[in-house]
Amino acid sequence: MIKLEPNKDLSLCSTLACPSTAQCYFELSYKDDIPFVVASTKELGLPLLVLGGGSNLVLTPKINSVVVRNTIKGIEQLSKTDKNVTLRVGAGENWHKFVTWCVAQNYSGLENLALIPGTMGAAPVQNIGAYGVEIATLVTQVNAYDLVEEKFICIPNEECQFRYRDSLFKDHEGRYVITSVELKLNRELKPNLSYGPLKILEQNEHLTVKHIYEAVIAIRTEKLPDPKVIPNAGSFFKNPILSTAQFKGVLELFPDLVHYPAGDQVKLAAGWLIDQAGLKGRVNDQGVGCYEKQALVVVNPKRANGDAILDWAETVKQRVFEHFGVHLEMEPRIWR
Ligand code: EPU
Repeated sequence: MIKLEPNKDLSLCSTLACPSTAQCYFELSYKDDIPFVVASTKELGLPLLVLGGGSNLVLTPKINSVVVRNTIKGIEQLSKTDKNVTLRVGAGENWHKFVTWCVAQNYSGLENLALIPGTMGAAPVQNIGAYGVEIATLVTQVNAYDLVEEKFICIPNEECQFRYRDSLFKDHEGRYVITSVELKLNRELKPNLSYGPLKILEQNEHLTVKHIYEAVIAIRTEKLPDPKVIPNAGSFFKNPILSTAQFKGVLELFPDLVHYPAGDQVKLAAGWLIDQAGLKGRVNDQGVGCYEKQALVVVNPKRANGDAILDWAETVKQRVFEHFGVHLEMEPRIWR
């Protein structure tokens, strides 16, 4: 029997720890329950929002929706050859636990993505990426329930429209309930050491998946706050992408500008921009601010509400625009 829970407190449901209440809530453990949840949601005339680990979300105080927490579990092996293994992973599996399991099996591909908070189902939504690897390069297929067509569908990688921190699922928020993700991993180590601080590992002649995994954990622990200790949502802004012409204009004024090639465009380091605009370690009267060790991370030590977070985000955007003439875009999604 499907029953939605009214007035659910969500303050423990996002890594920013914003106090928030959902009009209705449901914990989804079995994909076959989805059609019933959808029918109940329709009867109430409310939108449906899917919650994973809540690590890329700003929750405002009142969410007038049915919030479905996806806890669908399971890791299935679909195929295995000498070189590769293909796995189907339930959307509710914890991301880092899954990465750790892969490393224990000696499967290579996800080691650069260790310690990212959140769930498997959230990973393709924002095409998580770190240290030179994006999940888009490993996903073969995403399985989901389409709330528009009202049926289960399989979306192959080519149709997921993966881009830097974006995808089909982020474009059409509220349309797809991701049930599982299929990934193809390597059974031999395929190291990606392109990111500066990992380069030193090139000297290790006996490099293993676990060495990279441990190095990534060390780098992240050093720079990024643990959300259980200081609530945060990882990088709060995307690294802005400029045309070559725009970039040249900014570079003339700021010759030290940190930048990376991005196809025929140029990507700037948002953390550097915020830092140079003088906001690193600065907080507002509600304690919301930019982390002292990595300006790109907005921290919420006093568990202020989502409106306070959005106010701070506006302050940061304005200051960076005044200073550099560059627009920053938020990475987390906002639920109202
Ligand atoms: N920088 C500063 N001051 C700061 C922060 C950064 O000067 O306060 C400079 C750094 O010195 C460096 C550059 O900015 O030269 C880039 O910083 P970093 O290498 O720390 O990476 P990032 O661009 O800030 C991105 C991702 C992270 C990912 C890392 C590593 C985005 C928005 N962020 O951060 O992803 O872990 O690269 O690959 O793309 C996340 O999305 O939640 C996340 C943590």
